[in-house]
Amino acid sequence: MSVSTTDISIRKVEKSRISEIDPAEIHFGINYSDHMLIAYYENGAWQKPEIMPFHNLSFSPATTFFHYGQAIFEGVKAYKDPQGNPIIFRPYDNWKRMNRSAERMAMPDVPEEIFVEGMRALVDLDRDWVPVGAESSLYIRPFMLAVDEFIGVRPAEKFMFIIITSPAGPYYNHPVSIYVQDKYVRAFPGGIGFTKAAGNYGMSMYPTMQIKKMGYDQILWTDGFEHKFVQEIGTMNVFFVIGDKVLTPDITQDTILEGVTRDSVITLLREKGITVEERPINIDEIEEAHKNGQLKEAFGTGTAASIAPIYALTYHDDKMVLPPLDQWEISNWLKKELADIRYGRKEDTHNWIVRL
Ligand code: COI
Repeated sequence: MSVSTTDISIRKVEKSRISEIDPAEIHFGINYSDHMLIAYYENGAWQKPEIMPFHNLSFSPATTFFHYGQAIFEGVKAYKDPQGNPIIFRPYDNWKRMNRSAERMAMPDVPEEIFVEGMRALVDLDRDWVPVGAESSLYIRPFMLAVDEFIGVRPAEKFMFIIITSPAGPYYNHPVSIYVQDKYVRAFPGGIGFTKAAGNYGMSMYPTMQIKKMGYDQILWTDGFEHKFVQEIGTMNVFFVIGDKVLTPDITQDTILEGVTRDSVITLLREKGITVEERPINIDEIEEAHKNGQLKEAFGTGTAASIAPIYALTYHDDKMVLPPLDQWEISNWLKKELADIRYGRKEDTHNWIVRL
């Protein structure tokens, strides 16, 4: 189907709720902006999307996604440039990834016109909700649900694609302490680890709750065969600076999310002449590097988390504490470089920025 922003029907709120937001109190995932977008898929085709006031939804208790988790999502961010104009960071990459998740979950492709043009129209309408503070952004959450009213197990035929947005501050407001998981497994080759399926996050709640009780912030998942090869952190991809190289797990086995921030980081590092190795990384190698004083920095990357420094990694009873943050040359440079591009302070030589 071909939809332009002018084909999207818009029903506006009578009164904006924005005055209820305290700009000094913007946290992740608490407040939602005035409008949302909904598009229905039925009889093998997407219907025209509609933007309408943010509201609660009502479903039959027999709806597919409640029972069988046929549900996927994305995370995108909009920032304000120095002139106060909103810009969206790499929405086409999230659109493509959503469709990779959709295929694996037997859901229909979302057309670019609905995902990207719909998002642009929504952010344009709620442009006052894009916060201006350092590290603030409008977090955009596109998602798709299977909505057949049928409890037999089969791929659904009706779907809803929805976008909501939420003014957000940093996801982690402190360096994180990571527990290297060697009991529970996130993903296997052939599974859905590379997708943003709701179930990938649902399965992580119990193991994460256990390690939080032990005082850690997040899990670093390991492979499902040997529990040796590091994969990703609950909400982020992972990077290690060892000597003068940067290492990150390769994504060739479909067990790891193909992060848009991951790709941005690899691109910027390589352009700066820094060697980035994408390959299997055994946790023994990380321990060895730490013992030899070669583990200089470690960080997670993600849309919500941006670049989150890891101050300690614990594997069995080995707590690997990293050097003080002010010595982290690579991630401190990366953080600034990426922020300058995202907030439109620096020329966008990669075509990552989409203006409204
Ligand atoms: C994102 O970074 O957008 C994510 O999807 C992480 C999230 C589950 C908070």
